[in-house]
Amino acid sequence: MTEEKLRLGVNIDHVATVRNARGGTTPDPVRAALLAQQAGADGITAHLREDRRHITDSDIEKLMEAISIPLNLEMAATDEMQKIALRHTPHAVCIVPEKREERTTEGGLEVARDENRLAHFIAPLRGAGCRVSMFIAADRHQIEAAHRIGTPVIELHTGAYCDAHAAGRLEERDAELEKLRSMATFAHEFGMEVHAGHGLTYDCVQPVAACPEVRELNIGHFLIAEAIFSGLETAVLRMRVLMDEARAGR
Ligand code: PXP
Repeated sequence: MTEEKLRLGVNIDHVATVRNARGGTTPDPVRAALLAQQAGADGITAHLREDRRHITDSDIEKLMEAISIPLNLEMAATDEMQKIALRHTPHAVCIVPEKREERTTEGGLEVARDENRLAHFIAPLRGAGCRVSMFIAADRHQIEAAHRIGTPVIELHTGAYCDAHAAGRLEERDAELEKLRSMATFAHEFGMEVHAGHGLTYDCVQPVAACPEVRELNIGHFLIAEAIFSGLETAVLRMRVLMDEARAGR
């Protein structure tokens, strides 16, 4: 399993955040996506939020036209987003929870509590050929529910692990990492593909990248922040090297 390449999805939302701060056209998220692609990203991730605070509908349209690597559209399970996804049919659709007042996606999706509705919600997306994933906490009940409704992919929320790492709460960090590891194995045993992401940085990416069941990491904020200092290509390349080293057990 470890021989399989770990894919890197680069989330370009915050290029759009900076653009929107001035309401103009720069920096252009499509240009960032093309640079990330050139630097070795395996996919581009973009979250179309209900309030359009970063990525907009026209960004999605332009990304679909411009990039040659897969687009992973993150979105809430609403009728509006379902229509947009069905219009574009991106390679992948990741269903995320969304609250207007949150600064970023704070927790995982409540699949267990919303099983019926989500089952109906994802059916047309799957029918249209989109790879549907659910962004969930490393929790057995959520994984079981995702499996019951036929989700082929789950993305484990790494936020709690990354926060504990950044704050130096090492016992908590290790416990969160253990949860991610064991739940990645649990989901993999159900035949689901496992992705992970949220809050990952150069400092904390490697233990997650080393989990053999994890096939893809989605990383955004840190890479875009780092790009201010080193350029986006350098940031993506460095992340890629760290991921590959971890995967190879170095
Ligand atoms: N994966 C999902 C499902 C997300 O919602 C996000 C944040 O938009 C990420 C990964 C990337 O998180 P970050 O920007 O903290 O790297």
